[in-house]
This record gives sequence, structure tokens and C-alpha cells, in this order.
Amino acid sequence: MKESINKAIEILNSGGVVAIPTETVYGLAAAINNEVGIKNIFATKERPFFDPLIIHIENIEQAKSLTTKWDDLAQIFADRFWPGPLTMILPKTEIVSDLITSGLDTVGIRMPAHPLALNLIKELGTPLAAPSANKFKKTSPTKYSHVRDEFPNVYTLDGDDSEIGIESTIISFTKKSVQILRPGMISKELIEKTLIDNGIENMNIEYAESPVAPGHLKHHYMPNIPIIFKVIDQEYNLEDIPEEILSNTATWNLPNDPLEAARLLYSQFRILEKQGKKSITIQITSKQIKDDHFQGVINRLIKASTYFLPKNYSNKTEVLNN
Ligand code: TXA
Ligand code: MG
Repeated sequence: MKESINKAIEILNSGGVVAIPTETVYGLAAAINNEVGIKNIFATKERPFFDPLIIHIENIEQAKSLTTKWDDLAQIFADRFWPGPLTMILPKTEIVSDLITSGLDTVGIRMPAHPLALNLIKELGTPLAAPSANKFKKTSPTKYSHVRDEFPNVYTLDGDDSEIGIESTIISFTKKSVQILRPGMISKELIEKTLIDNGIENMNIEYAESPVAPGHLKHHYMPNIPIIFKVIDQEYNLEDIPEEILSNTATWNLPNDPLEAARLLYSQFRILEKQGKKSITIQITSKQIKDDHFQGVINRLIKASTYFLPKNYSNKTEVLNN
């Protein structure tokens, strides 16, 4: 392990990018103080500069150095959820470049729960900016082999399969309310419970549209063939979907356990798209759509899908506010 960490550090110090395992998905990392490296992330991913990166830290002091507003709430969330799949959006300090935040005055910060990622940040001595290690708008990688397939030329640390399987929950907050900008496996219910456990009541917790380029990022997480999002216990009109797409499809029933559904989701996309069919059908129940613990998975499915049965499920906010 020492050898691979040393090699990763050498690449990062010379302005390169390294793919790293995290418990959510693999990330494509560069040191936050290396401008060439940060630009390389955008170039490698073919990601537009308007979409900001989140920063991965290894200890709380690093988090405090990145934000001007480390308050009691930030400390409560860090104590409860870090290391783990929570990203907090906080006002940035000067050491965070505009390139990382796309010119915003806030920055996303997360302490990942993966020994290899933490070790690398520790040995490097600098936080890492890292988006998911996939081409822009494509499916995030949850296995070492996924990254190798997509970026054969990028040095990748092999850290086994990502245990969580979908990206972190992203929140921003004030003293009065918490906004969930991207749902994930840390659910609304769990955030609510954490506040109550810490004696904080009457806070409003709501799903909110991300302030980052809304509209531009609707189609995301997409495999190379269309996904049909199918709610099996509702009435729908099959004529809404072209016949050749509907009849030649690879089907997956979303597992009943939300942890399993999240862990398997992206590797299922990759397995199903290789079956030579014209589409992927993901079968979901109304119960899953309403379940707080499924909101992260449902959010990714809606963004990844082209067709919806019934039609109205393409309305994302309706589902999330359900
Ligand atoms: O689990 C994860 O969060 C993974 C692993 C690698 O840590 N990372 C990840 O990064 O999903 P990325 O870049 O694929 O998604 C981060 C999202 C982007 O959609 C970006 O728009 C949003 O975070 N974001 C970053 N900075 C922001 C900010 N200051 N305000 C609002 N949204 C922000
Ligand atoms: Mg991503």
C-alpha cells in the first residue's frame, strides 16, 4: 500500500490526477493547491468549468481551514457523519480557488470513510478536490474495474468495491433550515434525528434544487442505452414508449433493501447495458418511491432515465416531495 500511495503522491505533486476509492463512489482527485492538477480533472472528465468540485479532507482542522463559518451545526454534522457520505456546503476561505468552486463563494467539504483515501490525504498533507471518476453526465464508478475501463491512462488506487454505491448526501444550512441539495444514503429522517438528539428543534429540513446551474445537470448518471423508469404497481400507457425500445429491454427489479439497491445500482447499469438490448428497464414500487431511505436511489434513477411509466414520474420535485 505504501508504494501505491507514494506513486499517487508523486503524480499529484507533478500536476496529475489520481483515481481514489471512497465508500460512496470512486473519485478523480487532484491536490487543492495544484492548479494544473485541478484543471486536469475538468479536462479528463470533459466536465464544464461551471460545475464545482467538492473537497475531501482527512481531519477537522483541514475542514476549518477551508471555511469561514465552522459553527455548532457544522460540528454536530461532522461529529455524527464524518468520516462518511455527507458533503457540507459552507462559505469558503481564500485558500479555496475559484476554479474548484466555479466562482461560488461556498465550497463542498467531505471526509470520506475509506482508509486508502484518508491515508493518501494524510501523507500528501493537502486536501483533495475530487468529483466522481466518470466522464461528465455518465455513470459513476463503484469498482476499480469501472475506473480502469473508463480511464485506462489514469493511475487508480485499488480499494475494493464502494460500500455505499451512490454519491454523498449534499446539504447546506442556516440556523433555521437544512437544504438537501442532493439526496443520498444519509436520509432526511437521519438528519432530523441528529438535530433532535442534539437538542435542536423546529428546524425545517427540505429537499431543494441545487443552486449550481439548474437545468444543465438534469440528465446525469446515464448509461449508453436509455433507461425506462417503471413503477410496476401503477397504471400506465405503454404507447408512451417506442415499441422497439420497450420490447427489447434488460430488466432489473430494484431490491427491497435500500442499502443493497444503492450498492448495486451503478454496477447494474453497466451489466445491463452490455446485454445487447435496446434499453434498460428498472422496476420500482410506489412504496419505494415514497420511502425516505430510497430518495438517493430514486433521484439518480430519475436523472438517468429517458422514459417514465407512468409519464408523470419524470417530474422530479413531485417524487422527492412525496
Ligand atoms: O460521494 C461523493 O460526493 C463523490 C465522492 C467522490 O466523494 N463525489 C461526487 O462529486 O459526487 P461530483 O463532483 O460528481 O458531485 C458533486 C456535486 C456536483 O453536482 C456539484 O455541482 C455540487 O456537488 N457542488 C459542489 N460544490 C458546490 C457548491 N459550492 N454549492 C452547491 N453544490 C456544489
Ligand atoms: Mg459526479
